[in-house]
Amino acid sequence: MCGIVGYIGTRKACPILIEGLKRLEYRGYDSAGIAVLNDGRIDIHKATGKLMALEAMLESGMPEGFIGLGHTRWATHGRPSDENAHPHSDCTGRITVVHNGIIENYLALKEELVAAGHEFTSETDTEVVAHLVEESYKGDLVAAVRSAIKRLEGSYALAVMAQDDPERIVAARRHSPLVVGVGEGENFLASDVPAFLQYTKRVHFVEDNMIAVLERGEVKFSSLDGKPIEREVYEVTWDAAMAERGGYEHFMLKEINEQPQALRETMRERLSSQVSKVDLPGLTLTSDDLRGIDKITMIACGTAYHAAMVGKYAIESLVRIPVELDVASELRYRDPIIDDKTLGIIISQSGETADTLAGLREVRGKGAKLLAITNVVGSSVARECENVLYTFAGPEIAVASTKAYTTQLMVIHLIALYLAQVRGSISEEQAKQMRKILWTIPQQADVILGDHPEVLACAEKYYNHNGFLYMGRGPNLASALEGALKIKEISYIHAEGYAAGEMKHGPIAMIDPSVATVAVAPQGKTYDKIISNILEVKARQGDVIAIAYEHDDQIQKYADHVIRIPATHELMSPILAAIPLQLLAYYVAKNRGLEIDQPRNLAKSVTVE
Ligand code: F6R
Repeated sequence: MCGIVGYIGTRKACPILIEGLKRLEYRGYDSAGIAVLNDGRIDIHKATGKLMALEAMLESGMPEGFIGLGHTRWATHGRPSDENAHPHSDCTGRITVVHNGIIENYLALKEELVAAGHEFTSETDTEVVAHLVEESYKGDLVAAVRSAIKRLEGSYALAVMAQDDPERIVAARRHSPLVVGVGEGENFLASDVPAFLQYTKRVHFVEDNMIAVLERGEVKFSSLDGKPIEREVYEVTWDAAMAERGGYEHFMLKEINEQPQALRETMRERLSSQVSKVDLPGLTLTSDDLRGIDKITMIACGTAYHAAMVGKYAIESLVRIPVELDVASELRYRDPIIDDKTLGIIISQSGETADTLAGLREVRGKGAKLLAITNVVGSSVARECENVLYTFAGPEIAVASTKAYTTQLMVIHLIALYLAQVRGSISEEQAKQMRKILWTIPQQADVILGDHPEVLACAEKYYNHNGFLYMGRGPNLASALEGALKIKEISYIHAEGYAAGEMKHGPIAMIDPSVATVAVAPQGKTYDKIISNILEVKARQGDVIAIAYEHDDQIQKYADHVIRIPATHELMSPILAAIPLQLLAYYVAKNRGLEIDQPRNLAKSVTVE
């Protein structure tokens, strides 16, 4: 978490840094700061709170200068305050640093540096880096950064600037994302591409244990021991407009509405018509490899984990291979049984989630074959997996994930159908039927988004409720968990998601008129059971909002409100059910007057374990 930016070139650095930080604010918004090198001195401005506070501070005058660094913080070490805001400086104020990550041995380093006479002004782990660089600086900033980072344990994406070395920025990375944007006579660095997308689409992805030196006319890479490294330039396909709100009040609403198109893009080339078979271009696993797999382990966090839950139902049902699910932060501590016949499916929108990366390395270490589902080209997950299937959702800026989730579900269904095809686990007739149903999902998503008066009515009626219970069965247990997560994240109302059959084992005690229950109830194997669960809630004076198929003419007898979705296959229904759940969370939060795109305490890309 935290976002860093850097610029060196011929334009004024300050506006570019602020613009870049705006696009990285999803990574943290506890404080923001910039440092600009001007006329032989480093000018630092920082403010607690969102970037707006820093912008207000700069209204009286932006620092001049053509080289600078910026930072937006998600606090880990030290509360949000001006002192703890980045950039941080050495004792002399001649060296300044921005950092994303955690320096795990900072206390020992700080003690050592204090004993050597260094004076600290913040509680952060980052400040040790500035003092370590100061210790080693003998006129060569690159050498000083290199020797400083050799002392660091933990994770970092760092950028360092020195008053006495005004023609370059030195950056380094270990386990935290860092990209370099290549311009004409100017270069950029950032935690994520949208920070400089309006200036260049040509990027280098910096690898772990690599140093990047940015000058106006060139960028050089080297290893920790100083060996030069050649890096490929990637052309990013996203454009700057995709990272703008485009007339919507919030990114979240824009991203919810982008789902039909994102689903189409994700399907394109993989299921090119209603009648074609599934193709997964870019997959290097051969049909023999796929036939040799005897288990799948899916690893993810948060919303991406809910996508994995749907994956278990889809793959087990269509392919008949056992699928294990792991929350990434748990996997590595339970010594899972994995071997070279296991396929590890790693799901991550950002491709940078620290827990997910640790899980990936754990399963790789045990010999599993790897397949990543991610939204970000060149992300760590994409680079560390030999097989990658991208969700073509475009940049997801709102902290609450929406289009990344539904496109992850689309990829999962494509994988399930592809595996079933290769392994012959379902008949061609059944496969054809399933492909046809999947093919219509984007246009059904359009229908849901067209008009949704019942969602608005529910958001109006329940936005002040004390709590929400979400229940679902089968693949829609994941929908219940995802619906509850969405509303918790952005409206701060207590919500829990449950397997509907579990309600009677405890959660039903929560039901009273101030708690609304959302029942995800598309018709399928367990429809009658979930109707009974709805009745159990009604018998206890709880209101029920049901998510049900358009043609279901029974459910309105039992539920207080029915939000309709078009009918589809039960396994695929979580894709469509997700949309009204996202809209409900959005409008509840909006009615409560909350900051929807940047909910408190959260950050989009969780790069700390
Ligand atoms: C919830 C949300 C998070 C992420 C989780 C994993 O709306 O966005 O729960 O799903 O932090 O992030 P990625 O997919 O980037 O690994």
